[in-house]
Amino acid sequence: MLRQVLLAASASDQIRGLLTGTSAARAVVRRYVPGETAADAVRAARELRAAGLLVTLDYLGEDTTDPLRAASVATEYMALLDSLSAEGLTEGGEVEVSVKPTALGLLLGDSGDAVPVPGPLGEKIATEHIEQIVAKAASVGTTVTIDAEDHRTTDASLRIAGKLREEHPWVGSVVQAALRRTEADVRTLAAPGTRVRLCKGAYNEPVSEAYTDEHDIDKSFARCLRTLMEGPGYPMIATHDPRLIRITAALGLYRDRGSFEYQMLYGIRADEQARLAASGARVRVYVPYGQDWYGYLVRRLAERPASLGLLLRSLGPGQRRSSR
Ligand code: FDA
Repeated sequence: MLRQVLLAASASDQIRGLLTGTSAARAVVRRYVPGETAADAVRAARELRAAGLLVTLDYLGEDTTDPLRAASVATEYMALLDSLSAEGLTEGGEVEVSVKPTALGLLLGDSGDAVPVPGPLGEKIATEHIEQIVAKAASVGTTVTIDAEDHRTTDASLRIAGKLREEHPWVGSVVQAALRRTEADVRTLAAPGTRVRLCKGAYNEPVSEAYTDEHDIDKSFARCLRTLMEGPGYPMIATHDPRLIRITAALGLYRDRGSFEYQMLYGIRADEQARLAASGARVRVYVPYGQDWYGYLVRRLAERPASLGLLLRSLGPGQRRSSR
């Protein structure tokens, strides 16, 4: 219930204003988002690499309604990849990027307005932008993963990734255990070398499309996990859940250590990230950056009501008002 209220609140400008109003509230935001600029993202990537962790960087933003904005997101990614390459961070895919199709135009319609479901024009625009990013990534020796958004976008996102994999087999897809369709998607995607990120799913989905009970989501995750870990692809297991991490480790005993990776979000269970990396596992941290951090933050708070309590206290009258 709280999760649904929070996810519904994610469009509120008033709440966004509150979150930047005090230094303590900004500290909660910074826990999950290291900064708003590409320089902040590169710095975070450098620090994580120094700690032996792999990185995927996400320029925040989604559901773009403006074609110019979609083009500028692609430009941002290309400049980011150049900056990472200049610092020697992209070699061997050590620091890669994650992209959201709706930030790159997937929901744009013929009229230029956003449409509720992706159409041919939006898919064409998003494909072209992601293609540019993929070509840049190839030129600097790294990879791209296409994030999963809500279920309306799943078919188009998987199609875009499939098309781009024809030339660049390392383009990654993301699947969400919460969606009822995902077990079938995973069977198709468990192909030689295919990079597939498995996560629980962060969106508020209708019951017709998704499991809503957390135990059902966990069971679906475990089934998808087994298919991926027993298959010939490159599984990227994105969870902080201790039980699912233990199952991954057990299934990983039957695979080469370099043939799969764990993934976690920036600022969440950093101790566990370090422990797994110290054990010799490949661990990648998903690092979001940019000004458009609000929707991302609300999804994280919805998963972790304790952080919400911390945030609400930080907004209290005793907190110092910021001048910014
Ligand atoms: P769960 O939420 O059950 O958490 C398990 C444990 O992790 C908790 O008990 C707690 O200890 C810790 N934890 C979890 N969230 C926390 C928080 N916010 N603060 C502090 N501790 C926390 N989703 C999506 O729909 N599309 C996508 O493309 C991606 N991409 C993605 C990449 C990566 C690398 C990760 C790790 C996750 C995603 N996700 C995602 C998000 C994912 O779908 C899911 O919403 C979150 O990972 C939370 O689910 P967990 O599997 O961590 O389990």
